[in-house]
Parts: sequence; structure tokens; C-alpha cells
Amino acid sequence: MEFWHNRWKSEQTGWHRAEYNDLLVKHWPSIGAEAHGEVLVPLCGKSLDMVWLAEQGHTIVGLEMVEQAVETFFQDQGMEAKRAVLEQHTKHVHPPFTLLQGDVFDLKPNTVQADAWYDRAAMVALPHESREAYVRQLQQQTKPGAVGLLITFSYPHEERQGPPFSLQDEHVLDLFSEGFTVECLETRELDDEKEPGGLSPLTSVFKIQRT
Ligand SMILES: C[S@@+](CC[C@H](N)C(=O)[O-])C[C@H]1O[C@@H](n2cnc3c(N)ncnc32)[C@H](O)[C@@H]1O
Repeated sequence: MEFWHNRWKSEQTGWHRAEYNDLLVKHWPSIGAEAHGEVLVPLCGKSLDMVWLAEQGHTIVGLEMVEQAVETFFQDQGMEAKRAVLEQHTKHVHPPFTLLQGDVFDLKPNTVQADAWYDRAAMVALPHESREAYVRQLQQQTKPGAVGLLITFSYPHEERQGPPFSLQDEHVLDLFSEGFTVECLETRELDDEKEPGGLSPLTSVFKIQRT
């Protein structure tokens, strides 16, 4: 927890992108997310991808622990959000965005009933031991049949310390083996993040659907 607060406080937010994620733009239209449905964006930071999803007609529910991230998101969009307390979270609302500020693991089941979800730099930000609980949360905060787009990151050498923490394709299949169907849409090398030994990390894109 302290780790993420420090990263935001010291503005070490190297994961943040000033443009929309190209893999989101490429694959979202084909995964069959309900038009105008609600999209859950766990560990959302101040991601502009939420703006892109809103432009497609969705309403957005972002989950983010650090207040500074939430405030910066709304400031950057020129929006003043209304606040309300929701159990252990603070709800920041300016339609079509609702950002729930607090720990994703403290969210009670069915607090959100999203039609779809989008995960970029979320599951890979969590250590291996938290990932099963994260998948359970996705299950509890989405409707049956909800569809998700997951963008992973894996190091060629597993021993590297994160975050991001490596997430191999076989682990995705394993973690979502019960209650979901999983389809890998694309895998590519991240050449601009090549390691000294010459190997590049990989990124994969998955369509995941709750059954
Ligand atoms: C690597 S960043 C990715 C942000 C965003 N998905 C993006 O693509 O820009 C991970 C974010 O998750 C937040 N975070 C980490 N652990 C969390 C938790 N348990 N509950 C809610 N947010 C969390 C951090 O504060 C950080 O903003």
C-alpha cells in the first residue's frame, strides 16, 4: 500500500501513458462488450483508456487506492467530481465516470455489477499471491456473461522483481480456469523494453468471459 502511495507522491508513474492503449483500441470493438454497458477498470490510476472507453458509449467504474491518482484524473479531464462515502471506499462521481477510491480487496461482493472489464497494468501490478483473490473480485463485481480484455506482461526471465510482476499465458489460463472462458487474441514482443541480454518482454491480450 505504502509502495503505491509513495510512487504517486514522488510522481514515479512510469506506467502512465499519454495516449490511448493501441491494444485496447484494436481489440475492444471485437470482444462483444455490451453497447453502453458499464465497464469496470480495476487499479485504474489516471488512465486515459477510461476516456476512450467512455467515448465508445460506456459508463466507467474505476477502482483506485490512491486519492492523488483519482483527483488528478478528474483535474486532467477538467471535471469536478462529487464525493460520497461508500463503506470503506470514497466514491468520486462525474458522469460517465465513477471512481471508487480504496483497496480493491475491501470491496464487498456485488458493489459493482459491471457488464465488462478492462485490465491493463492491473493484474500485473499485483504480486502472485494476490491474483486468485483478484480474480474472485472480478467475478463478484461483474454480471454473469460479462466480458473482459486483459493485457499482460511477462519477463523473459521470471526472477525479475516487480511491479510489474510477470504474468505468463499459462498462469492466465490457470487463474481463469473456473467460471470463465479464455481466448488469447494476440501476443507480441515489446522491443522497446529489450533487456541487456537481448530478450524482450512479451505482452499478450486475452478475451475473458464469465460463464
Ligand atoms: C501500474 S498502475 C496502472 C494504472 C492503470 N491501470 C494504467 O494503465 O495506467 C497500478 C495502479 O493500481 C493502484 N493499486 C495498487 N494496488 C491497489 C489495490 N489493492 N487497490 C486499488 N488500487 C491499487 C496503484 O495506486 C496504481 O495507480
